[in-house]
Formats: sequence, C-alpha cells, structure tokens
Amino acid sequence: MNILFVAAELAPHAKVGGLADVMAALPQALVEAGHGVSLVVPLHRGLKRSGEFRRTEREVEVLRGMRARIWEGERGGVALFGLERDEYFDREQLYGEGGVDYADSLERFSFLARGAVELARYLEPTPEVIQVNDWHVGLVPAYVKALGLPMKTVCTVHNLGYQGEFGAEDFAKMELPEGVFRPEGLEFYGKVNLLKGAILMADAVTTVSPSYSREIQEKERGHGLHEVLREQRGKLTGILNGIDMVGWNPSTDGALKKGFGVKSMTGRVECRTALEREMGLEAANGRPIFGMVTRMAWEKGVDLVWAGVEGLVKQGGRLVVLGAGDPVLEEEGRRLAERYPKKVAVRVGYDEGLARRIFGGADFFLMPSRSEPCGLTQMYAMRYGAIPVVGEVGGLRDTVREWDGKKRVGTGVRFVPTPEGLAGGLDRALAIWNEPAMMNEVRRNGMTEDWSWGAAVPAYEKVYRSLINPKGETRCQN
Ligand code: ADP
Ligand code: GLC
Repeated sequence: MNILFVAAELAPHAKVGGLADVMAALPQALVEAGHGVSLVVPLHRGLKRSGEFRRTEREVEVLRGMRARIWEGERGGVALFGLERDEYFDREQLYGEGGVDYADSLERFSFLARGAVELARYLEPTPEVIQVNDWHVGLVPAYVKALGLPMKTVCTVHNLGYQGEFGAEDFAKMELPEGVFRPEGLEFYGKVNLLKGAILMADAVTTVSPSYSREIQEKERGHGLHEVLREQRGKLTGILNGIDMVGWNPSTDGALKKGFGVKSMTGRVECRTALEREMGLEAANGRPIFGMVTRMAWEKGVDLVWAGVEGLVKQGGRLVVLGAGDPVLEEEGRRLAERYPKKVAVRVGYDEGLARRIFGGADFFLMPSRSEPCGLTQMYAMRYGAIPVVGEVGGLRDTVREWDGKKRVGTGVRFVPTPEGLAGGLDRALAIWNEPAMMNEVRRNGMTEDWSWGAAVPAYEKVYRSLINPKGETRCQN
C-alpha cells in the first residue's frame, strides 16, 4: 500500500514529545513491511538546518494566495517532504514560547494541512491512505473531501487533550466550503475544533493504546469529545505504540558513560554514579534515585511529585527531573531543588543526552500521569533498566505490569494518580529497592520485553486495508 503520513513533528530535529519519535519510527516500520511510505512535515528551523532535506524547484499553491516550496529527503526508505514557508515555520519553537502558543497557529497549521493535501495530489504513485496525526493536521480530511480526492484518511489521536480550538470568525481563513462549519464537520459548540472535525471526517480513527481508546469514550477522560468518540466507535481502534529498539539501545547508546545490557550490568553502575555527579546529587549507593523526563504539564502529574517530594526525601529517596513546559511547574521544581540540595536535582530544558542518561542511571522512573495516551518514556526506561513507577492510566496500563512478589512476574509499580496513590506507589517501589534480588528481577523483566513496532504494523495494515478494500476485510472495532 502507499501511505502518506502528515505531522507537525519529526525526531530528532523537530520534537516536543512522543509524536516526533513515532513519526521517526512507524513509517519506517511500514516500509520494512513492504509498503511505500512518505511523510510531510513543516520545514521547521531545526529540520531546515539538519541537512536531511534538500531544496527542490517544486512549489505548491496552498492557501490565502501563498505557495510552499517543497524540500525533500529520505530516511530508512521513507520519502520525506518538508513544506517551506519561513514566516510560519522558521521559528525558535514548534508551537509557541513561554508557555503560550503562537498567535497564528491556525494560519500555520491550516497551511500545513492544505499544503500536504496539495502535495499528495501530485505524488506518484498517489497515496491510497493519508494518516493525519493530532490536531495540527486535523484539516486534512476536510480538504481531501472538499477537493473530491480519492484518498482515504486515518486520523490518529496522540493526545485528545489538545484539540485546536479557534473562534468561528477564523473559519474563513481555512478556505473550506461553508457546509464544513456544521456539527457534522468541525463546528463544536459554536467554535472551530480541528480535532473533532478530523474525527468526524476521517474514514478511520486510531489512537495510541487500547486502554486510551476506551478511556476517551468516557466523560471523565474524554476531554469533552467522549460522546463524539462513542458515536464514532465503529471506526475507532487503539493500537499500542512501539519504540525504535535500535535507536534506543543501552548497549550502543553513545550518550551513556558506559554501555550495558541485561547480561552485563556493570556499565549501569557507572552510569548511575555518573548521573549522580552530573546532577550534583550526593554519592549514595544505598539510596534509590527516582528519575523523571517529562513535559512539565498538569496531565503528567508533575505537581503530584512536587507535593510528594518531602515524603520521598524523608524515606531516603533522591529525585532527578528533566523537563520543560509550564513556567509555574518549572519554577516550583527549581525551588524544591534549592530546598533539598544534593537530594533533588531539577533541570529545566530539553536535553536528549541527559534524558538518555536518566533512563540509564536512575533506579526508578517516575511517571505519575493523570492521562497518558501511550507514553514512550516508560518503555525507554524499562529498556534502560529503570523500573517504572507510573499512574494507572492509558498506555501506562498497557505497558507496565504491577510486580507480583508471589508469582514473581511484573515490570514495575502502578498507582492511582492522586497524592495518596503516589505515596503508596513510592512505598511499593521502596519495598522492591530494599530487596536487591527482587530489584534485579523486576529490572530484568523490563529490560527483556519486546517494545518493537512488530505488533503495531499488522494492526495499522488492517485499518488501511479495511478502507481500501472494505469488502475484503472486516473493520476492527473495540
Ligand atoms: P509526551 O509525548 O506526552 O510528551 P511520551 O512519553 O510519548 O510523552 O514522549 C516524550 C518524548 O519526549 C520522549 O522521547 C522523551 O524522552 C522526550 N522528552 C520529554 N521531555 C524531554 C526533555 N525535557 N528533554 C529531552 N527529552 C524529553
Ligand atoms: C502524545 C501522548 C503520549 C504518546 C505520544 C506518541 O504526545 O501524550 O502519551 O506516547 O503522543 O503517540
């Protein structure tokens, strides 16, 4: 099959979160399975400078009388296309600065969506399926329908918490037929809601874990769209993300002080000591290190950790946190690091090397998410030998199994993401820590799990096939 992916992020040069990692891995996994796969992204500053894309003479007419220049590249058999429009995409950040989105988000992302569709018209061979990822490209199904194009569209929801809501007065900027601003299109309570429009207008909807696909149909976790999703459940499938097992491998990772693997763990001891030093923690073999690598956001439960720091430190734990996002959460983190020197270290910023050293040096990986569509960091942590201590939600439920000391199975600790739940989770983690043999066993269980994209590929193929050849396949439902 020929599939075109459209997204606003691509690791490593245009990344805010896991969406970027998935765009760098899933298309390649589909190529390996024999499909023709392309990916369109905005030519963000980081991508332009990466050297991975080269400028071509090709331009497409997009919106509001503006054109986009096409840049091309290739990675692992995936044809890469970058839409160049510097006034929109040659910026310091991908979405906004200082915790505030850029004021022209709608102009930027409608341009991306329409540009991708214009490009799709001229690709040879024509893609049979366009997979759109998150709200930024949520207008793709609307443009495909408005232009009467034959491609099928799949809307993949990586995070329902971000929907792309704009005022009704912005509708005209998108240059779509009037009829699209209706309840059966992208109108939602009088506003424009790009993700809601994509969910309704796409031929199929996927989300990034089976548990999340169920949660979002409930009021509590549906971010206002639960009824829409429930109505559309016949075309909704939850497919668990994988990770790039080659790019994330502790035995070959150049960011680590020393490589290690499940059969030779001595390198990990060095990584742990190096992490203590790098983060300015006291050297203490007897005290566990809890690591976090996270967007600083309420949904990630960072505030729960801040509220629980005192208890954690009192029980002998230490904490290293790397993250950026909400300025209030960042500031509180800095304050706590000053209050507990050598026990709590907080780095505000984005640093992929340090992220890898936290996965490879911490004893536990803390992720008290209140909502987690899939989550990749807990999988990286397990692969790098940090035992996950996670909120019992979404993809965390589907990837971390609670350690059972009697049956001797499990890979980590799960808790209800509340202050009490977190306290209980930390107690259970410390109980594992206090028994070194158990610690090794839980760690080994996580390190030997297979997180490759192997299982996801056939699930996506099934969705695509059900659209291209609806009679030959039954559509999957949950
Ligand atoms: P989300 O996409 O919701 O942020 P995921 O767990 O799916 O959560 O993916 C987060 C990705 O971003 C991971 O690759 C993680 O290592 C990376 N990441 C998050 N924050 C930082 C940071 N401050 N520095 C480096 N990498 C980060
Ligand atoms: C989103 C989600 C995260 C998921 C990632 C990749 O950013 O918040 O849970 O892992 O997308 O699908």
